[in-house]
Amino acid sequence: MAIQQTLSMIKPDAVQRNLIGSIITLVEANHLVVKKMTMTKLSTHDAKEFYIIHKDRDFYSKLIDYMTSGQVVVLLLEGNNAINVYRDLMGSTNPTEAKEGTIRKLYAEDTTRNSVHGSDSPENAIIEIDFFFK
Ligand code: CMP
Repeated sequence: MAIQQTLSMIKPDAVQRNLIGSIITLVEANHLVVKKMTMTKLSTHDAKEFYIIHKDRDFYSKLIDYMTSGQVVVLLLEGNNAINVYRDLMGSTNPTEAKEGTIRKLYAEDTTRNSVHGSDSPENAIIEIDFFFK
């Protein structure tokens, strides 16, 4: 598999619980390299745009309120098959369905406050990386 880049966010619930280092340790242990990193608080405008794909879902406004509730850490990760490697490491969106050892199994509080985000495809990785690191 080729070297890929993917976009990761450590979300407000994890930042608030002092889990930035623990999550990056797992990222690095899984052979993903942090190429860029920034900490920011998303505006409502930016959160709505980032999650525009979910605009018609019933959880959209709850998601926007949550994602603007505190700081996030945004990471550009690189590695062999990085998109799927990072998605496997995150685990299922709903932490009760996440496998042992995944970030969400370890740390997520519920389906919204699920600690991390990761790009779901090469196309979206390009869009999401551009969103934060253009
Ligand atoms: P993420 O991987 O960042 O992509 C979209 C986010 O929407 C997801 O993580 C969750 O934070 C949130 N989300 C997805 N599905 C639901 C749901 N059924 N209920 C509440 N929040 C959800």
